[in-house]
Amino acid sequence: MNTNRLSKTIAAALNAQMTNEAHASQIYLSYAAWADSKGFAGIANFLFRHAQEERNHMQKILEYILKRGAQAEIAAIAPPHANPTSVNNCFEKIFEHEVANTKAIYKIVKISFDEEDWATWNFMQWFVKEQVEEETLAMNLWNKMKIAGGEKVSSDTLYSFDRDIEKTPDEAKAAQDVTTDKP
Ligand code: FEO
Repeated sequence: MNTNRLSKTIAAALNAQMTNEAHASQIYLSYAAWADSKGFAGIANFLFRHAQEERNHMQKILEYILKRGAQAEIAAIAPPHANPTSVNNCFEKIFEHEVANTKAIYKIVKISFDEEDWATWNFMQWFVKEQVEEETLAMNLWNKMKIAGGEKVSSDTLYSFDRDIEKTPDEAKAAQDVTTDKP
């Protein structure tokens, strides 16, 4: 009996998503390098940490493909996107990127549902929740930047923003984990 437990379609979709996560890591890495070169060490620190998180996402998918007996395809990673034009633009691009990644994840959830591959469907639920957190985190940071003035933010405020973001937690709290005494 064949020990591969993934269909061709699911294996291809998961392999593509593994590369998407590696690409996301490169994007965060490139934005971090950009931020550092502009003197924003706090923003760079946050983005370097997030680049590692994306590598972890890649690794999770790789492990899942292997554990289901399918072939993992380590593919070339596309170059990262163009550098941001401002700190505001940096967080706008990050939010847009996370929304695009969510859409890619939802496609795999849909395929697994249609194929009744409940193991993959279950595995992908981790990513569904993770994307809610990632979008919330990106949304919160971009909102803060917009409140601070967006494209018109002053140097003083940028200084404080950069200092504060270094201590920003890597994860946003998901709605499922909120209680009335710990909103
Ligand atoms: Fe792996 Fe930012 O999603």
